[in-house]
Amino acid sequence: KELIVEVAHFNASTKEELESFRIKYLGSKGVLKDLFAEFKNVDADLRKDFGQALNTLKKTAEEKVIQLTEILENSVEEKTLYGDLTRPGEPIELGSRHPISIVKNQIIEVFNRIGFTVSEGPEIEDDWHNFSALNLPEYHPARDMQDTFFINKNPDILLRTHTSSVQVRYMEKNQPPIRTISPGRVFRNEDISARAHCIFHQVEGLYIDTDVSFADLKQTLLYFTKEMFGKSKIRLRPSYFPFTEPSAEVDIYWGLETEIDYRITKGTGWLEIMGCGMVDPNVLKNCNIDPTKYSGYAFGMGIERIAMLLYQIPDIRMFYENDKRFLEQFRSVI
Ligand code: PHE
Repeated sequence: KELIVEVAHFNASTKEELESFRIKYLGSKGVLKDLFAEFKNVDADLRKDFGQALNTLKKTAEEKVIQLTEILENSVEEKTLYGDLTRPGEPIELGSRHPISIVKNQIIEVFNRIGFTVSEGPEIEDDWHNFSALNLPEYHPARDMQDTFFINKNPDILLRTHTSSVQVRYMEKNQPPIRTISPGRVFRNEDISARAHCIFHQVEGLYIDTDVSFADLKQTLLYFTKEMFGKSKIRLRPSYFPFTEPSAEVDIYWGLETEIDYRITKGTGWLEIMGCGMVDPNVLKNCNIDPTKYSGYAFGMGIERIAMLLYQIPDIRMFYENDKRFLEQFRSVI
């Protein structure tokens, strides 16, 4: 009975200790074997008691071995899983730059090389900077062209519909010479489709100095398209913007080499990539720049559209879905 208590309280901290315990009690020359051999020598009136005690001892010892084996095996496993300091660490998944950022940075770099700085403005704008200062007075029909998101139904506070608002802010604070580009997010209450989204990105360009002409604008656009796309077959189509006069739309000839080229250029090979023009003297005046002394040009382009061309992306919605299978493909692009 003392042995039962001893066995019940036994504990082993190593497999070796447990093994010698097993041999001591349950082995072929162990304590239990001896005691069972003793059985026939026990007095008849004590036999029942002795037999029961022996069975309990055997059961307790066997259960102890099973229980301790389990504990020790688990802790060995734990040691090899977490306790081995020489194990290599879990691999860290590296992220990659979003294609919009990649293309934005490329555009910035191309214009930095010819002296353009980068400027930014707020995404929540007032009417003056997004519309009025840009020669779009209240009730001007051109305002309808840009489906505006207003904030709290306040007609004066809105999400900017283009980065041209940053032109105004920049001219209000700086006198010519001005050479700046303004990348940023813009918002329009448009139906979402493969080609249009309600949130997208633009880069605005602004160049103001003495004697700036339309020829300077065209030469800058030729330089840009050559650097950006490796080709500079472009055409300027007369257009209208309230803040530039004259105004033009820039198309690049992309060719029709692949199915996707065919889709994004609508099968003509030409693709519109930006709006541009000579800054309207009224806009200069609104921003306290003397239009009799200075002139300049401005342009604005959509980053998504350029990224879609460069990387053959057929659907604008892919930029905002955060699908890793899409994003991972830009890992090797800086
Ligand atoms: N702001 C115009 C747009 O969003 C683009 C533009 C910018 C046109 C500058 C001319 C000059 O469509």
